[in-house]
Amino acid sequence: MDALAGWYPWTKALHLVAVIAWMAGLFYLPRLYVYHTPAPIGSDRSELFKVMERRLLRGIMNPAMIATWVLGLTLVATPGVVDWSAGWWHLKFTAVILMSGFHMHLAAARKALLADQRRHSERYWRAMNEVPTVLMVLIVIMVIVKPF
Ligand code: HEM
Repeated sequence: MDALAGWYPWTKALHLVAVIAWMAGLFYLPRLYVYHTPAPIGSDRSELFKVMERRLLRGIMNPAMIATWVLGLTLVATPGVVDWSAGWWHLKFTAVILMSGFHMHLAAARKALLADQRRHSERYWRAMNEVPTVLMVLIVIMVIVKPF
């Protein structure tokens, strides 16, 4: 575990690279659902959205989420990085769990849209678009300001 301390700046840099890629997808995918939902079933537009959604989720978001988790847990295992008595870590971790749950919700919704099932309205996806923003603001304040 002590060897991890020497890698700390690198682990953190790569953690942030993975976070940025993951967040880009979490912002963009619900946007695609906003425009996919009203597209007529079987239309070229609807079929194009299916391809864009699959590539974004499988090609970028899934690998980025896995890398964020692996590198984040490596930081947790690095001696002296997390002060377990501080509250910020617990709130950050809760927000990260919610972010991962949101990712799973988007993945399930992609499968439904692929099968031409429109389970949610365009308005629903517009509202859902705000979820990753709120969680991201909370996480960044916890991890940088560490207010408690
Ligand atoms: C997926 C699970 C995650 C775990 C286990 C995790 C864990 C950690 C840990 C232990 C640190 C080091 C904190 C420090 O040096 O004081 C860190 C740094 C950081 N994390 Fe995460 N993290 C995760 C996801 C995220 C997400 C989703 C975001 C943003 C939306 C994020 C943003 C950051 C930032 C900005 C830093 C750098 C803080 C600094 O400058 O010290 N992390 N993370």
